[in-house]
Amino acid sequence: MDIDNIRNNFIKKIEVITSLEELEKLDVIYLGRSGKINELLKGIKELSPDKKKSAGSSINQIKQFITIELDKKRTLILNESEKSIAVDVTLPPSSTQKGSLHPITIAVSEITEIFNKIGFIRMSYPEVDWEHYAFEVLNMPVTHAARDDFETTFLSGSSDKKMGKMVLTPHTSNGQVREMERLQGRPPIRMINIGKCYRPNWDATHTPMFHQFEGLCVDKDITIAHLKGTLNFFVKSYFGDKTEVRLRPHHFQFTEPSFEVDITCTMCKGTALVDNKKCNICKSGWLELGGTGMVHPNVLTAGGIDPTMYSGWAFGFGIERVNMMKYAIDDIRSYYSGDIRFLSIF
Ligand code: PHE
Repeated sequence: MDIDNIRNNFIKKIEVITSLEELEKLDVIYLGRSGKINELLKGIKELSPDKKKSAGSSINQIKQFITIELDKKRTLILNESEKSIAVDVTLPPSSTQKGSLHPITIAVSEITEIFNKIGFIRMSYPEVDWEHYAFEVLNMPVTHAARDDFETTFLSGSSDKKMGKMVLTPHTSNGQVREMERLQGRPPIRMINIGKCYRPNWDATHTPMFHQFEGLCVDKDITIAHLKGTLNFFVKSYFGDKTEVRLRPHHFQFTEPSFEVDITCTMCKGTALVDNKKCNICKSGWLELGGTGMVHPNVLTAGGIDPTMYSGWAFGFGIERVNMMKYAIDDIRSYYSGDIRFLSIF
């Protein structure tokens, strides 16, 4: 009889099936619209009325049997496939994402450590300070054009007769006279002042908030030779042994003589060439680090130090800037973008 054949064939076929794909094909062959069960049902029409009833019920039975067997097999195959991806306890655990220090935080501690080695003490002076410390004592009177260079942000509110208005410090040089006053005008001074600075600019090399580190050294018989030695030590420690330093004449109100400090380009190593083409980072072999010079006698006097007995030097460099030079970063704004892809480089 047809039904018995169908049943036996089905059993033989389903026994050897191992994949869901094959199982779905078998499902279609038996239970599909033009499958074997539907064909049987169509055949009922031709039967005599007394046979119709028993044929109908045997077809329903086989349909039910096939449906149940297909379901059982489906479950079996799914269980097997889960077993094959069972946990391998010998594998290392998958890594979880860990936080890390911000590149500027890392740079601040590296710079602090380098200067600690040669006896410089880390200081922190106000980020919001009086005009007096930010300009006046630095030989920059109100009328002086240099005060415009910094495009300083002034705080609203009343101003003090002696101290002037309050400003968001445009440089860390406000720490110079504050440090001299802290020591009551009695050198030696070996300070590294690290802090936030504010100038209202926003482009690839400027953000309205940035960081500077300010070195100040005051003692008897301090010369430019000590300055060069210190800069050399810093530059070689931070950028690597092969980096060279040069001083270029410049002007600042609070140092005399004044210089800009250049270092050999970290990209072309001072050759100005990369693959026989002009280096597009520096174009000349040198990159500018920041400003420096011998502390102006007026500044020493403002800090209560006798300029005929003592001399000193100061420098101020941008932390983002030195970090960009070290890691060939071309846009300072990346530091404050909060982009995890950038932050995870460090
Ligand atoms: N304050 C100067 C600037 O921000 C840098 C500087 C510091 C120059 C100390 C000389 C001495 O550009």
